Amino acid sequence: MIEVKGFSFTYPTGSRPALTDVAFEVAPRELCAVVGGGGAGKSTLAGVVSGTVPHLTGGTAEGVVRVNGRDLAETPLSGLVGEVGLVMQNPFNQISGARFSVREEIAFGLENLGVPRDEMAARIDPVLEDLGLTGVRDRSPYELSGGQQQLLAIGSILVMRPTVMVLDEPTSQLDAAGNALVFEALGTLKEQGVTVLLIEHRMERLARAADRVLVLDRGAIVAQGPPGEVLADERLEEWGVSPLRYTVAARRAAARRLWPDRKPLPVTLDAAAEGFGETVTRLDRGDRGDRGDRGDRGDRR
Ligand SMILES: Nc1ncnc2c1ncn2[C@@H]1O[C@H](COP(=O)(O)OP(=O)(O)O)[C@@H](O)[C@H]1O
Ligand SMILES: [Mg+2]
Repeated sequence: MIEVKGFSFTYPTGSRPALTDVAFEVAPRELCAVVGGGGAGKSTLAGVVSGTVPHLTGGTAEGVVRVNGRDLAETPLSGLVGEVGLVMQNPFNQISGARFSVREEIAFGLENLGVPRDEMAARIDPVLEDLGLTGVRDRSPYELSGGQQQLLAIGSILVMRPTVMVLDEPTSQLDAAGNALVFEALGTLKEQGVTVLLIEHRMERLARAADRVLVLDRGAIVAQGPPGEVLADERLEEWGVSPLRYTVAARRAAARRLWPDRKPLPVTLDAAAEGFGETVTRLDRGDRGDRGDRGDRGDRR
């Protein structure tokens, strides 16, 4: 469970706040996604929820952040190990540098948690398998591709079984197959009752996987709601986020009355196919949609 209330934060060197009056909650079994342009404050928010901001960064913070009921201002970082897992934006930064193989790297966090040896194997091998890393388990983390390093960074957090998981653009270097593995793993986490905060700019999968989407713009939450609503919002580009192709196509079609009236703009391929299917059926019936109410959405892009 993540609870953030009235939270503002300024870095020690910052001239303006990186986060302003942020408030949201994420419940167990919920996947909340955060989107926003570069510099919007996404990584700062990931740091706040995982306790590194302001504990490690310094700076001035206001407001309350609670994770599993504990006030982070009063909880030392060591008290969060194993409970909150942060997958950092750059996987290279996350590799410990202290271990010589992928398998040992994944074991590293468990050693620190004091997990018994025989339990370690039982935890590590399924994680390697789930993330497609079994074939490179004996390689050095530094010999991996960027995508494999990213999967390794995710694996080394997953294996610790945190109850709150924060991922900062974890799929930026992954191909479609790697991306699918990550979202599958996130689905499993949710089923296990984990609270997931996912920062992501690739929205295609988000639209299907997220329970809620939060938009950050210049440090403030400017929208928050179900993906079908938030990702179809006309202001998305103003907020520095590229809309999905499906939404753009339907918005252009709507301007020419080729998208069904009153149907929300789609954020998934299935919803787009359904809407355009209805239009085709309507045109097949010879109904051109010219029913006197023409123009009421004709100017929309
Ligand atoms: N360690 C830091 N020290 C000072 N300013 C920072 C630091 N990290 C980020 N910032 C600033 O905070 C703002 C938000 O950055 P960040 O959270 O990294 O955004 P995002 O992840 O959305 O791109 C930016 O203006 C950035 O320059
Ligand atoms: Mg970032």
